[in-house]
Amino acid sequence: MVKTKTVYVCGDCGSEFAKWQGQCNDCSEWNTLTRLSVDNTSSKSRRRGYTGQLEQAQSLSDISAVDVERMTTGSEEFDRVLGGGLVPGSAVLISGNPGAGKSTLLIQIMCKLSSQFSALYVTGEESLAQIAMRAKRLKLPLDDLKVMSQTSVESILSVWDELKPELMVIDSIQVMNLEDVDSAPGGVSQVRECAAVLIQQAKKTNTVLLLVGHVTKEGNLAGPRVLEHMIDCFVMLEGDNDARYRTLRSSKNRFGAVNELGVFAMTERGLIEVSNPSAIFLSRGEESTAGSIVMVVWEGTRPLLVEAQALVDESALGNPRRVAVGFEQNRLAMLLAVLHRHGGLQVGDQDVFVNAVGGIRISETSSDLALLLAIVSSFRDKAVPSDTVCFGEVGLSGEIRPVPNGQERIREAAKHGFTRAIVPKANLPKKPIPGISVIGIGKLEDALNEI
Ligand code: TYD
Ligand code: MG
Repeated sequence: MVKTKTVYVCGDCGSEFAKWQGQCNDCSEWNTLTRLSVDNTSSKSRRRGYTGQLEQAQSLSDISAVDVERMTTGSEEFDRVLGGGLVPGSAVLISGNPGAGKSTLLIQIMCKLSSQFSALYVTGEESLAQIAMRAKRLKLPLDDLKVMSQTSVESILSVWDELKPELMVIDSIQVMNLEDVDSAPGGVSQVRECAAVLIQQAKKTNTVLLLVGHVTKEGNLAGPRVLEHMIDCFVMLEGDNDARYRTLRSSKNRFGAVNELGVFAMTERGLIEVSNPSAIFLSRGEESTAGSIVMVVWEGTRPLLVEAQALVDESALGNPRRVAVGFEQNRLAMLLAVLHRHGGLQVGDQDVFVNAVGGIRISETSSDLALLLAIVSSFRDKAVPSDTVCFGEVGLSGEIRPVPNGQERIREAAKHGFTRAIVPKANLPKKPIPGISVIGIGKLEDALNEI
């Protein structure tokens, strides 16, 4: 007889409890516990990977580690984010807002790769006719890709055994279900168990498994956080639905560096990669306007020129607004405090809005200086000349700190016709860079004098 037991699992951290409780003891989140029935006998041994045989510890040097051959996806930008291509037997989770283009990106890649590898695309969200229509409209090669509309993991596994695909897409993990797990699809236990079974099968058969995952309104992965621990690589497709550009970013990668950025343009021909994205986020005309400055940020291995904008306006509210779009809210608050204390600029009664043009999200600290200068420029209603770029981190005592890859950033700006760069003193190039004059600053006051 199969013994089952009931446990309660936290959807955020994956901790298990014998009894239901309102708050998770481990991560202190409220209302995240859901019931899960597990097969008592097998689950324990499965979870510990115990096979009944005595395993012996080995010396690390005795293990032969051959360099795995990676599959290139046919898209340079996607490969870059993955750290050089897909690794056989790995599980990649692709996540993003509804309409970000996850299904589009995957159908494009799968159609292209299906001529070299056996590939299976499983959808639980769209009908097969919809997929076929989209692939035809995008003029993709249709002949070799196998597609299946299915949400039952048991059925998927049986087709898997039969077709033995080398590449497999599950769109999406939130609609999959296993019969012997008693919770609705998308629930913590379903997502967790389905993913575990599929990932295990991928490892066993050396298949590349591409899972699509939805995100919640707050931008977190819908369903259990434990999913992030199970997969090898987690990439996010970001960008507003009405924005032209989508960025692909990895936040976990067992086979490469994280924070590498891939840029795609959403067009009527699907997602097209932008292989030289350094200036696509620039929207400046010849005229210079107050509250706007171009900064050079570093994304992965490349510089990116992005326009930062600020609007400082007298507030009609008792509690002035601080809104950051594309930047971190906390960073803005910190910078305003630094500006007050070390720049002598009082914006306590002003609304402050800042924005990174083009819908890109900036997480790098080298944008600090640009934000401050844009805010000051808007406050004084004085434009910064449009041929000026800047970058630099601002410290709490008002010092301008150096950032990595200073020279390359300045060179990239010069390449795009900028003639003046305001940079941290320690980032001053040793030899002059043709076409651009570089001003090194050490303190916030110097920067304010400079504009
Ligand atoms: P989709 O891949 O269905 O998004 P997801 O699977 O992430 O939810 O993409 C849908 C969006 O992409 C939709 O809003 C329209 C847009 N789109 C284009 O602009 N051009 C195209 O060629 C395609 C296929 C989609
Ligand atoms: Mg989709």
